[in-house]
Parts: sequence; C-alpha cells; structure tokens
Amino acid sequence: MNTTEKFEYDIEFFNREKEKEEIMRILRAKPNFINFIYGPINSGKTTLITNLIENLPENYVVFYVNLRRKSIIRYEDFIRVLFAIEEGGFLKKIKNIFTKVLKHITSTGEKTLYKSHGIPVDKSLLETFFKEKSNEDVFNYLVEYFKNIAKHKTPVLVIDELQMIGDLEIDGKLIYKLFNFFIGLTKELHICHVFALSSDSLFIERVYAEAILQGRCKYLLIDDFDEQTIKRFLEKYKISKEEQKIAYDYLGGKPRTLADYILSNDRNKYIEQMILERKSEIKSILRDVREFGDEIKVRDTTFPVSHEVLLETMKKFKDVERRNSDEINETAKRYLVSKNILFADCVKDYVKQQSKLDLLAIREILKEMK
Ligand SMILES: Nc1ncnc2c1ncn2[C@@H]1O[C@H](COP(=O)(O)OP(=O)(O)OP(=O)(O)O)[C@@H](O)[C@H]1O
Ligand SMILES: [Mg+2]
Repeated sequence: MNTTEKFEYDIEFFNREKEKEEIMRILRAKPNFINFIYGPINSGKTTLITNLIENLPENYVVFYVNLRRKSIIRYEDFIRVLFAIEEGGFLKKIKNIFTKVLKHITSTGEKTLYKSHGIPVDKSLLETFFKEKSNEDVFNYLVEYFKNIAKHKTPVLVIDELQMIGDLEIDGKLIYKLFNFFIGLTKELHICHVFALSSDSLFIERVYAEAILQGRCKYLLIDDFDEQTIKRFLEKYKISKEEQKIAYDYLGGKPRTLADYILSNDRNKYIEQMILERKSEIKSILRDVREFGDEIKVRDTTFPVSHEVLLETMKKFKDVERRNSDEINETAKRYLVSKNILFADCVKDYVKQQSKLDLLAIREILKEMK
C-alpha cells in the first residue's frame, strides 16, 4: 500500500535521482568506507534511504536501525535497539542461527525483511549479551554474522539518527567501539556497506574531526530540494509558475513544507502563517537568551552565549544566504545550530539557515529591531 492509498491527500516520493545514483554507485563497489549521510533537518534523508532500500535488487540484505526517540542510556538499551528478537518462525526451529537466517534470506530473496527491526537474534543469545555485559562480544558476534551473510548476499547496515548515542558511555564511549566495528566491516573486511544518517550538524562536525575516521569515511549531503527540483515537484501537481516562484522565494526546498503548500487551500496564507510561526519561535529563543542567558557545552567546558553576538551573527545573513564558517562566531554558530536555526556543513565549510523560512524570519526580525 502506498501513502496515497492510505490517506485521502498525500504526496508521493519525488526525484532524488542524482543522490540515488550516488548511493547505488557506492553499493555496487566493494565496501570500503563508512558513509555518512547528513543534511539540514527534514531534508528527506530517511525518506530517501527508505525508498532506496525498498527498491534494491535482490542481492542486497538491508538491516535498518533507527535510534530516534529510543531512550538509550544503558548498555541493555543499546542492545535492545540493535537487535530484534526472533522468537517464533524460522529461528526457533534450527539450532544454528546463521544457517537459518541465511537460508531464509537466500530462499525468499526478501530484501527488506529486517527493515526497522534491527538485527534478528534469538532470545537466548540476546540474554547472553545482557548477561555478559560486554560489547566486545556483541561486535564480534556481529562481524561473524555479516561475514556469513556476505558469502551469499551483500549486507547493508543503515543506522539512522546515529547522534542519539554520540555521548553514551559504556566502558568508555560506545561510539568509538561502533566506529571501530564499522571500520572492520568496511575498510578491513570489505563485507558490509555501512550508512550512518544524521541531521545533527554538530555531531557530523565531531565525526569529521575524529582522527580514527580520517580517510575511512565518505560524506554525502542530502540537502533541501534546489530551485529546479522545487519547480519540477510543484509542476507535477499543476501548481502555477507564479506560485512555483513564490514557493521557491519564501518556503525553500523542504519536501514536507512543499507538500503542505501543494495541499493547502490558501497558499498565500499558508506562507504567511509559516513565516509568522517561525518568527515567533526564533524571537522566543532570542528573548530567552536576552533575559536569562544561556550556555553551550563544548568538550566538557561550558561557554556563555551572548544575545548581542547572536544578533551580530544573524546580521551576517542580512544580504547573503551562506557564509564561510570562518566568518561566523563559533559559539553563536553552535548555539544557533543546536536550536535548529542554522545548518553548518563542515565538509564544505559553510554555514546557512536550516531553511529559507528561517532566513526570511531572521531578516524580518532584524528589520523590526531597527
Ligand atoms: N523525496 C521526497 N518526496 C516527497 N516527499 C518527501 C521526500 N523526502 C521527504 N519527503 C517528506 O518530508 C518528510 C520529512 O522527510 P524525512 O523524515 O525523510 O527527512 P529527514 O531529513 O530524515 O529528517 P530528520 O532531519 O528529522 O532526520 C517526509 O515525511 C516526507 O513527507
Ligand atoms: Mg531522518
């Protein structure tokens, strides 16, 4: 069932041919790198990867793990999200879990069998992991697991919202163990493709600066739709040229915002409302800092955030949409990124607004202050 059947009004997946092609190129080559998919919030990262998974040829087996909204504070929580217990069905009947999993994969050709479910294990093995409390065991187990699958098919491991475990300490930082595990699967053993998704640009910045990952990763930006794509997307739904231009000028290229624009029964009002809402949100953040102050933590040290510096930083976008990272105050940048107002691309070394709406809202706020 697709979404258009499920709901009376909705918009189907659009385009992304270039990005899909790029990911397919990666998938056709020997696994060599950890692939980080990053981009502004709501740019369509998860949707793109989900759509791609659903249409992959049969020789791939995808394990999709989404860490969003999972509260992971202990070792057990992490294990629970990584694995999916297979109590009944095929795992129960056969003692050797690998053989059974492989048999199922090869016989049905099911590609997305485990999508959203994590990595299948039986209950007793999962309990062993809980008891042992050693994540070495888990990662060793997983390496063997993927090695076995790789004899028959190409495994693809997708971890969405990786920043959720960015600070998790389990015998030291879990993320480092995970990175080493990913390096093992890709650069060293070449057995499994690894994709990590995140819209947290501060997290990606940390990853990018990480010494153990140097030369071992590829970064793929999934940005909001560009001007041409926005217009083609709207054209498909018979939106007039004039309204296409208005959408580009005022809303920008977030697919969901554009979909709501298409579905709106008063498009001008929709835009007015969106800008008004975003303005109120940003003004409230600024007011908060002005009245009560705030701080931002960088490597265990907190730095105060100044209302004046925030405004100065915003003024840098009065006439231009992008700034080189060096032109922007770093504390203000991190603060505004953490509040989802700015998006920082550390790979391409620039800073811009999270969306066109943010840009227009900020410009209006600055105008009102004069
Ligand atoms: N290519 C597309 N065509 C049509 N709609 C899309 C497309 N990509 C995304 N959307 C719409 O935008 C919404 C947000 O997309 P998605 O959740 O994939 O973004 P994201 O970048 O993963 O967000 P986050 O930053 O929260 O992780 C989707 O629910 C879908 O409605
Ligand atoms: Mg997402």
